Amino acid sequence: MVDSSQITLRPASPRDAVDIAALWHRGWIDGHLGHVPEALHAHRRLVDFQQRVPPRIPTTTVATVGQEIVGFVTVRDDELEQLYVAASARGGGVAAALLRHGEKVIAARYSKAWLAVAVGNARARRFYAREGWSDAAALDYPAETAAGPVLLPCRRYEKVVR
Ligand SMILES: CC(C)(COP(=O)(O)OP(=O)(O)OC[C@H]1O[C@@H](n2cnc3c(N)ncnc32)[C@H](O)[C@@H]1OP(=O)(O)O)[C@@H](O)C(=O)NCCC(=O)NCCS
Repeated sequence: MVDSSQITLRPASPRDAVDIAALWHRGWIDGHLGHVPEALHAHRRLVDFQQRVPPRIPTTTVATVGQEIVGFVTVRDDELEQLYVAASARGGGVAAALLRHGEKVIAARYSKAWLAVAVGNARARRFYAREGWSDAAALDYPAETAAGPVLLPCRRYEKVVR
């Protein structure tokens, strides 16, 4: 398990794109398979994540242990948009460090942050609740795909960040 003293956070760079996409792809499978409409599966191949990463690099922060990227967070306005931690680094404080960083970025411009989590993603929902986020409402989240949005049954979580 990762010790929190080993974790470093830094802004993502274009050189990280391949590693972020691989981590995102594997984490998406862990958190979403069985919990999202079948229509989304065809749009969540590794190549899809490879296309989705580059536009997000300027708003992505990665967590590293040594040279290895073990997680990342992306923020879009007041939305904590993506939070993913490698399976080998889960349960060790990486997710909390990334989440708190994302909250701080949002707090610079907004008083309340929000995120969408798939209804069946029990581990993520437990994690957000532990970190002080409230389950605020049902939300059909327009998940981005190359063929247009696919509506994903989610819960909207919120947190006052300042
Ligand atoms: C969501 C994620 C970032 C959380 O990070 P993490 O390191 O796994 O989080 P933690 O282990 O600190 O906390 C998870 C909590 O869920 C609990 N948990 C573990 N497996 C669980 C399960 N199958 N069902 C319900 N709760 C579960 C843990 O016990 C822990 O709760 P506790 O602190 O009360 O014991 C990480 O699991 C992940 O990257 N998942 C895949 C991608 C994903 O789903 N991202 C979020 C998209 S919104």
